[in-house]
Amino acid sequence: MKITFLGSGNIAQAIMKGLIANGISVSQITAADPNKAAKDQTGKLGVNITADNQAAVEWADVIVISVKPNVVTEITREIADIINEKLVISVAAGITCQTLQDSLGSTAHVIRCMPNTPAQIQSGITGLFATSIISAEEQKVAEQILGAVGKYIWVKEETELHAVTAISGSGPAYFFYIIEALQKAATQLGLSEDLARLLVIETAIGASKMTLAEETKTAEQLRREVTSPGGTTAAAINILEEGDLVGLMSRAVCSANARSIELAQDIS
Ligand SMILES: NC(=O)c1ccc[n+]([C@@H]2O[C@H](COP(=O)([O-])OP(=O)(O)OC[C@H]3O[C@@H](n4cnc5c(N)ncnc54)[C@H](OP(=O)(O)O)[C@@H]3O)[C@@H](O)[C@H]2O)c1
Repeated sequence: MKITFLGSGNIAQAIMKGLIANGISVSQITAADPNKAAKDQTGKLGVNITADNQAAVEWADVIVISVKPNVVTEITREIADIINEKLVISVAAGITCQTLQDSLGSTAHVIRCMPNTPAQIQSGITGLFATSIISAEEQKVAEQILGAVGKYIWVKEETELHAVTAISGSGPAYFFYIIEALQKAATQLGLSEDLARLLVIETAIGASKMTLAEETKTAEQLRREVTSPGGTTAAAINILEEGDLVGLMSRAVCSANARSIELAQDIS
């Protein structure tokens, strides 16, 4: 399988690194990008580099569109005549399959996906959506590519990608924010920055791993188990409940979901 990335910035490089780590040969990957810095970086990975999108598409079996959303239509128009039935995987936020097929052709083999930034350390999660023309074999190819940077899930309806964007796409920032807030609180209690960082990060990792490992218990059950009445955890949780953390998170996520819908409408 030969894979071309049209646009070789942050997310493309993360996926390329994951593919190489998973045993895909650098000779099977081409990065097409006019940007010198991007070319220098991908060159260091050892993959083929070019600024010629069309030659890169002709060479490949699978095309990953990994440019910013506002450049996608320019690219799809450029490659429309040579794409034929090659699999096209777009990571561009908000660009619908319909928009891709409007310029690539109505029979173009398109998969859309929404990875997230922990893909950079192969700990991402990607939401994928396949158009009806996509075969099981093509789905496997997409799983191999996005699976190189973490886990993946398929959604049945393309519109569900808005919720995926609001939860896992934007989600790392929510957790960074919580880590940031806890670290601040720890230093306010007199702990050093280093100690605060270590305690908070290890606690976040431990709680995440425990939530994953305890398959029969929900996060709520785990929380209740460590919250003894009248204890220290209860004292803290009371304050979070007074501030309606659950309601606040729900509003935040709804707002991200609405913004994703709005941005997609602006682009199309
Ligand atoms: N980063 C993430 O974690 C993440 C997560 C989910 C989805 N995405 C999606 O992934 C896409 C790329 O994001 P990114 O963060 O990787 O962006 P990025 O770092 O800016 O990379 C895009 C690259 O494409 C290049 N480019 C511009 N015009 C081009 C053209 N005509 N042909 C080929 N390459 C061209 C850009 O060069 P210039 O800089 O010179 O324009 C840049 O090097 C976006 O659509 C985004 O929605 C990213």
